[in-house]
Amino acid sequence: MIKLGKLLANLGYGSRKEVARMIKRGAATDLEGNELTEKSLVEPEGVLFLGEELDPVAPLTIILNKPCGYTCTTDDTGDSVYELLPYRMLKRNPIVACVGRLDKDTSGMLIMTDDGKLQHKIIHPKSNVGKVYDVLLDRPLTGKEAEIFESGEMLLKDEIKPLKPAQIEVIDEKRARVTLHEGRYHQVRRMFAAVGNHVLELKRISMGNLAMPDDIEEGDWRMISDEELAQIFGK
Ligand code: URA
Repeated sequence: MIKLGKLLANLGYGSRKEVARMIKRGAATDLEGNELTEKSLVEPEGVLFLGEELDPVAPLTIILNKPCGYTCTTDDTGDSVYELLPYRMLKRNPIVACVGRLDKDTSGMLIMTDDGKLQHKIIHPKSNVGKVYDVLLDRPLTGKEAEIFESGEMLLKDEIKPLKPAQIEVIDEKRARVTLHEGRYHQVRRMFAAVGNHVLELKRISMGNLAMPDDIEEGDWRMISDEELAQIFGK
């Protein structure tokens, strides 16, 4: 049981003051329609706010089909992925954060969670969650990319630690599918720049064994299922 005011503030419905004001005006009821007070001790699933069930409490993990043009920052600049979610997602405590950022101009699968342990587990090298990207290139592939990307010796500009071996599957002369086992800054774009090419389009299509579910249109999101979460770790 938790105090209603604290619960609503943690879920991002407003500051403590704002939710207190709304509760006073009768915005929160139990399932029978009885008005609650800020100090009511409640179970989250027993509360309706403005007539609707509350968002799930932590841990909450969502899967988003990110369009190009959105950043993974929490800045209120108007072009962050939080624009695609209810505003309260940005105001939750703990915050729902991106797991492994995508560039502004990269589209595709993005996991967001308020579960710090899960976040850590997905990005930890030991979990070896492969991330697969579809790439459209400016120039034709030369045929040398596979050997270089898979060598385990490839160096990116201004870095001293070689990249882990990455796999590339050629789709046609300017299209490829690349699998990474780490997540360095602009990694795919920099890998192709290092072999004299240029990435025109980049889309993440899967993480581990989880492909981007086709029921989520670009710009949409939903809660991830337990089964999908397990697939990220290859199950
Ligand atoms: N590699 C990139 O260059 N950009 C991304 O967004 C993801 C991987």
